[in-house]
Amino acid sequence: MNASSLPPAQQSSERPANSLYGGTRNRRTTVRDVATAKQRGERWPMLTAYDALTAGVFDEAGIPVLLVGDSAGNCHLGYDTTVPVTMDQMVMLSAAVVRGTERALIVADLPFGSYQESPAQALHNATRLLKEAGVGAVKLEGGERTAAAIELLVQAGVPVMAHIGLTPQSVHALGGYPVQGRGDEAAHQLMRDAKAVQAAGAFAVVLEAVPAELAAQVTASLAIPTVGIGAGAGCDAQVLVWTDMAGMTSGRVPRFVKQYANLRSVLGDAARAFGEEVAGGSFPGEEHSFH
Ligand code: KIV
Repeated sequence: MNASSLPPAQQSSERPANSLYGGTRNRRTTVRDVATAKQRGERWPMLTAYDALTAGVFDEAGIPVLLVGDSAGNCHLGYDTTVPVTMDQMVMLSAAVVRGTERALIVADLPFGSYQESPAQALHNATRLLKEAGVGAVKLEGGERTAAAIELLVQAGVPVMAHIGLTPQSVHALGGYPVQGRGDEAAHQLMRDAKAVQAAGAFAVVLEAVPAELAAQVTASLAIPTVGIGAGAGCDAQVLVWTDMAGMTSGRVPRFVKQYANLRSVLGDAARAFGEEVAGGSFPGEEHSFH
């Protein structure tokens, strides 16, 4: 693929050729590319994806990192939380996202219960995601408490994205999805968590639902990129759940979400138009029929 055959979003003349977003790279993003983006001070986008078709759209749009989040539980599989998501489900969804993409680094979540028992359990399940689904990295939730698991995975050659602040797999312990890091002690703990996952070898860290000022301080103190969600503008990267970002989600979305489209209404309109034409007898027409 050369620069002139890239989709419009990737042809920006204002961005250097080696930019993570908007560059002319014709291979998959690697964790080294992510590290050099931090050194250049480049900001970059990440989206979730749960299937080959949607992932392909985001890949063509130049999104350099796609997360097969266990938010698939709420956003794709119909559960209330991420807690019920299984390893088998994550392997299936991740393999589809890998098949549907050519350039994005695919990061897959280790779901609840797949890494908390021991670092060995984390390595066993991360290995499944790399071997069976073909992802390039895994993500797990927790700061200091997950450092030993991150260390073992990284030593074994598994790139790890950490996730601190609000950790949705702990919804039952947290009693919901409250903002984290408010107050001195909580802010110090968040900084300790960030430093612990960096020291353990994580290549990036998601900061979820933390005050913007604190996220900016954490970002400035780390050599690895921070990926914010509800963490203000001071992070190196930003992630959104795609169904929230594109307006597919029904009901209330968190305050930190910006909706860039209203796909739910577009799809609903298409389904209603189809329904009306079938019921009224105008579909299929002659042009849709064989003789
Ligand atoms: O599961 C997920 O989608 C996530 C993002 C919200 C960061 O962890």
